[in-house]
Formats: sequence, structure tokens, C-alpha cells
Amino acid sequence: MFRKILVVSVLILGLSASAPWGRAQQQKVDGEGHPWWQHAVFYEIYPRSFADSNNDGIGDLNGIASKLDYLKDLGVDAIWITPCFPSPQVDFGYDVSDYEAIDPMYGTMKDFDHLVGEGKKRNIRVILDFVVNHTSDQHKWFQDSKSSKTAEHRDWFIWRDGKGPGQPPNNWLSTFGLSAWKLDPKTNQYYYHYFYPEQPDLNWRNPAVEKAMLDATRFWYKRGVSGFRLDAVDTLFEDPKLTDNPLLPGTDKFGRPNMNEKYNKKLPEVHDVMRKLRGAADEFGSVLIGETWTANVSELKDYYGAKNDELQLPMDLMMTEFKGLKADQYRKHIGAVNAAGHWPVYVITNHDIVRSYTRYADGAHNDDIAKLMAALYLTLRGTAIMYYGEEIGMENNDPKSKDDVQDPIGKLGWPLEKGRDGERTPMQWSDGANAGFSKAKPWLPVPPSYKTHNVASEMKDANSVLGFYRELLSLRRKEAALLEGDYLSLNENDPNVLAYVRRYKDEAILILLNMSGTDQQVRLDFSSMGFAAPKVSVILTSFHKPLLPASGFVPMEPYSAFIAKITK
Ligand code: NOJ
Repeated sequence: MFRKILVVSVLILGLSASAPWGRAQQQKVDGEGHPWWQHAVFYEIYPRSFADSNNDGIGDLNGIASKLDYLKDLGVDAIWITPCFPSPQVDFGYDVSDYEAIDPMYGTMKDFDHLVGEGKKRNIRVILDFVVNHTSDQHKWFQDSKSSKTAEHRDWFIWRDGKGPGQPPNNWLSTFGLSAWKLDPKTNQYYYHYFYPEQPDLNWRNPAVEKAMLDATRFWYKRGVSGFRLDAVDTLFEDPKLTDNPLLPGTDKFGRPNMNEKYNKKLPEVHDVMRKLRGAADEFGSVLIGETWTANVSELKDYYGAKNDELQLPMDLMMTEFKGLKADQYRKHIGAVNAAGHWPVYVITNHDIVRSYTRYADGAHNDDIAKLMAALYLTLRGTAIMYYGEEIGMENNDPKSKDDVQDPIGKLGWPLEKGRDGERTPMQWSDGANAGFSKAKPWLPVPPSYKTHNVASEMKDANSVLGFYRELLSLRRKEAALLEGDYLSLNENDPNVLAYVRRYKDEAILILLNMSGTDQQVRLDFSSMGFAAPKVSVILTSFHKPLLPASGFVPMEPYSAFIAKITK
């Protein structure tokens, strides 16, 4: 990559070896009045796949602890660990059988405390994943609930009579491929599960459920956790009358009729729970990140709360559903988010979504596109959430046959639905055996591309995807305009290049992203900013060739990023 002024300094934050984050520290705001999470870079870790310290083929907490220096050096401020609680692992941890313990496959509570403490020494906070909607069918609450109609926990889950012999209570479907109702022969009633049958939905209309769940969050806050990512929040409530969902034309990937899930998703009561969870988080100065699947910006806005009393960071997952790379699609969406006025959290992938490297790749410019996408989500206004491996250009490694599939939806929906194994493969640390993830055979196979796309090799190559991420993250930390600046869209009619400025006080950073596979000459018009003929000093590009002086335009390579400082 080429640049004139290269900014590589990493802000070294104060180290301290004292106990986990105290309340005062969690609530601290910076000089501009921002709480810590606003400018933080979060990094999602799928613990089964990050680093395996005991060489059993599955990652663990000590493995994560051993990589904190790497994360610190990269510029990460907080790690979000997907569920590491005891679980039968039907949904790889999203079926929790005890909310207040660590699954032995990942380590012990001591290992967890060690991880939080080691994180604190490096100013890296730990965020856990709270599975709010359902437990595992092995959770003691559900075991009691199913034991009899009069059990103490019966009403902690959603039990109903069938409509008639062999007929579930209504037409609702599980998003994971079957009916959403399972008959339990013991009491001859059905229980509701939006996800797998092994994940019964909690009854959030029961105050005892609410209390137990809020207390579970407090348990972890007291142990030094700085917040939660809340799982599947839009599924928390169902219509108590169990009205059938209206059917829509066509079928889903499991061959079932499409339906409008208006009676079992996104019910307004969800927001009451968000406020209560926020109340508990506020007692500890903690942050709530939401898995908020929204159809539009208005729905997303609602998750912040009318009085900013719900989620501080509802994830904007809408970009993950965009088809292709079209500058205008991004421009419109970012403009709408910006106009909504809240603090954005643009997400481009996670453990449920095909990796961005694979989604956008064209076969010829894959690394360029990975850098382009990085430049997009790391220079926009808002909090950044990375997914492990994105920084090295990890690609999806989907199962080659149904027999290889681990994720149950992949078995059920094969071949249309291959499941989510492909985006959850082991982190590629080196070009050695098993990509340096483990000495044992990993639970999922690494793709052949680990030979070139791995941390050790890319560290040595400034032109690698990792090299670009490191520079970008360092720049983001250093440039006030990237952290604080407004978002101003430029060249709005350009179908190929997304152009914007982040402006703060008298500083401004220009970002150009060529989303097309051809060279582009970008002629910029800064008049709307009151900059007649600004001076443009290049900071970072993903160009392959040196940038030659050009008059009146910026020559952009295919799928490239260009970042510059502009001054009047
Ligand atoms: C969303 C999680 O991200 C996904 O992995 C999980 O399967 C479902 N929620 C159910 O918990």
C-alpha cells in the first residue's frame, strides 16, 4: 500500500494490575464526553475457534488469554466472546444450561477471572453473550418445567395444548427448520421454541423469569464483565392469543411456506425488557450491544429507546443483506442512519453470516475488496465491531458434503442451507499444522488458503490484509476526525465511488472507496463544505501502484480505498 504520510503510532494506554473494572472506571467519559464504548473497537471471538491451549481441537479461555497481546497490538479495546457457559452445544453454546458458570470445555471460572484480569492489564474489556430468549432443554429450569403442569418453573416457558390430536397450537415455524412447537408426552402439552427444539423459549411475561435473568447479568457484571451482546432480542415475546401468522408467497430454504412473523417477532414488549436490562447494566456502567435484526433504520432507532434508555449499541446488520457492492446502496443507507441521529454500529459479518471476504470476492481482487470493506466500516462514524479473522482475510470454508456438517441447520437444510460452519473455522495463526490453532485436529477444518492468509505471514507483509487493518486501526485511534467527526457525503451521483468526509473542528479526513472493478477518476467537489481548493495529503491507500500526482482528480484503482487529510 502507498501513502505519503503514514501514521502508525499506537496510543499506549495506562497499564494497571488492579482488580477488574470498578464502577467508576466503567462510567468514565473521555474529554469529549464519550463513554468508553463509543470509540472502542470490539472484536468478536467464537471461543471454539480462536485458540486451543489444551490441544483438544476446541478453543478455550486460556487460548484467548494467550492472544491478548496480539489483540492489543491490533488496536482492540474489547472482546465479545460468544457463549462460553455450560451447554450441551446443540447450537454451539446458544443453548445455555447454566447462566452463571463456565463450560469445562472452555476452562474454569478461575480461567475466566484470569482472562478478565489479563484483559484489564492491557485495557481490553470482556463482553459476554447473553442468550435472553431461550435456555437449553437441559437447564434445570426447563427440566423442572417439563416435569409436571404444576411444577414451580412450569410457567417459565411457553406451554400450550395442541389444536387437536397431532396438531400444534398454531402455524408458527422455528427459524431452524421445523414447527416451533414440540409435544412433550409427559404432560401432553406443546412447548414453544423459535430456534432448535433443544432451545425452549423463556416466558418473559413471568416476573420470576425477568428477575432471574436480570440477576444473571449482575452476576457477571460483578465479576468484571463490561457488558453483554444480547442474543436474538426480537424473538422475546409472542402474541398470547397465539394468532396464526399470515402466509406469504413462496417457500423458505427448508421448503416451508414463507410467513410474515408478525405474531411471534418484534412485539412492542421487547422494548420493556430492553429498558430493564439497561437498568441493570447502568448499575455497573456497562454496555449493551443488541443482535438487532431490523428491516429499516426506523426499527433500529427504536432499539436505542425513546429516552436513550434501551441499548447503547444496537447492531446495524442491514449491510450484511445488501446484494453486491453498489456505492449508492451504501450511500443511501449510511445517509439514513446518519439522519436518524444515533450513534451507529455498522456490522459487516459475524458467526451467522458468510464471511465478508467470501461474500464480496470476485476472484481477482479478493484482498483488495477485504481492504475496501475494512476502510468502510472502520472509517464511518460509530463503534466498530470486528469478527475474528476478518483482519487476515479469512474466507468461508463451507462443508463439502452433508456428512461433514456440524451445524444442525446445515444437516436439515442441505444443500440449500449448508449451515454456519464455514464462517466459524479456526483462526489462522500461522502456516503450520492446523494453521497454528491447535496441535490436535480442529473441530472444523481450515481452508487451504491458511497457507497465505495467516497472522504470522501477514505480519511480515505491509501489503497484506492484516497490514492494512493495522494501519487503519492505528489511524482511527489517532485521528480525532475519524472518532468524533461528522459524516458528510460527497459526489452523491457517482455510481462507483463512495466518497465522504469526516469533519471535526478544523480537521477533516476524506475517504474514497471505489466499489467497482474498474479504474475510476474521481473529481471532487468540496464546495458544499466551504473548501474551495483544499490541500489533500494522502494518509493511506490500498493501491498497488505508487500514487502519481494528478491534477483535478484522484485516480482510483479497482476496488481500492483512499484516505487523505484535507485542509483549507
Ligand atoms: C443468534 C446467534 O447469533 C445464533 O448463532 C444462534 O443460533 C441464535 N441466535 C439462537 O440463539
